[in-house]
Amino acid sequence: MEALEFRQEYWDDREARNAFKAFILDIHGLDFSAWEHAGFWDERYTPFSYFLDGRVVSSVCMYLLDAVVNGRETQLVQISGVGTDPAWRRRGLNRQLTQKGLQWASDKCSGYFLFADEDAVPFYLQCGFTPLREFREFIIAPRCAHRSGLKHLDPNRTEDRERIFGFGRSRTAVSDKLGVLNARLLMFHCLYILPDCVFEIPELNCLVLFKHRGPVLELFDVVAKDVPSMQSLLPYIGREETQQICCHFHSDKIWNGAVEKRELHGNHAFTLAAFPADNPVFPFTARA
Ligand SMILES: CC(C)(COP(=O)(O)OP(=O)(O)OC[C@H]1O[C@@H](n2cnc3c(N)ncnc32)[C@H](O)[C@@H]1OP(=O)(O)O)[C@@H](O)C(=O)NCCC(=O)NCCS
Repeated sequence: MEALEFRQEYWDDREARNAFKAFILDIHGLDFSAWEHAGFWDERYTPFSYFLDGRVVSSVCMYLLDAVVNGRETQLVQISGVGTDPAWRRRGLNRQLTQKGLQWASDKCSGYFLFADEDAVPFYLQCGFTPLREFREFIIAPRCAHRSGLKHLDPNRTEDRERIFGFGRSRTAVSDKLGVLNARLLMFHCLYILPDCVFEIPELNCLVLFKHRGPVLELFDVVAKDVPSMQSLLPYIGREETQQICCHFHSDKIWNGAVEKRELHGNHAFTLAAFPADNPVFPFTARA
């Protein structure tokens, strides 16, 4: 145990950062290289790790997020990048790292959240986290005439990527109830999770991230300085068969009609003490 070296906030050290990347690839099968090489590595994704001979054996990241909660600018911390090498599990390492991370974050944020893998649920309960109910919002799609002018952006093309990042950097929160502003996290989603779902509507000066699933329009994010209303977006992104819009964020800014809120199961959301937003819809692109 004595041989372990504790380190935090070490992204400036190239070798240590590479060791972290190798660790995450090992534990979670996630390769951060594309995110890093595109230039979007986020300093605010803050690591707390134990090293042995230059290798990471246990780690947790506190992701500091610029957020808007109930109309107020604040910071939230999302706990992510959590793991312990199988040979080092059940020795209290990750609990210690989590405590160090929480201590570091305590005067920096107004709330914590995380999404747990099913197997890790007992660990988070043991560390004092409490399950958090989370929701999605559904809207009956209003009928509207189609308009052309939607432009697909490809996050794998440098020019499009920079354009997306530009929108991300100057965005306002997609919701006043709960919105997250970190443009580098948005870029992670564009590169890894939603590469085919990113569109610009030049006439509305916005990006919209969406896809169609039969009659359901899955709306992941609207990225703009002035967030346009659903009525103005829908002519560009709706289809003849669209009956319902599944909003992966609170729809308060884009829609003032009826909303059906449904609980979302399976993500194992957790918080510490109380989360500052009631019945939260975590923005899709805010998940790390
Ligand atoms: C979850 C994980 C990070 C825990 O790391 P760890 O260093 O073994 O955790 P700790 O030893 O600090 O555990 C603290 C307490 O949590 C509980 N705990 C940890 N792992 C557990 C498990 N698999 N089942 C039940 N309880 C567990 C125990 O109560 C433990 O204390 P104890 O050993 O004294 O009983 C590790 O198992 C792991 O890397 N899992 C695979 C990746 C993963 O799931 N990451 C989290 C994604 S959200």
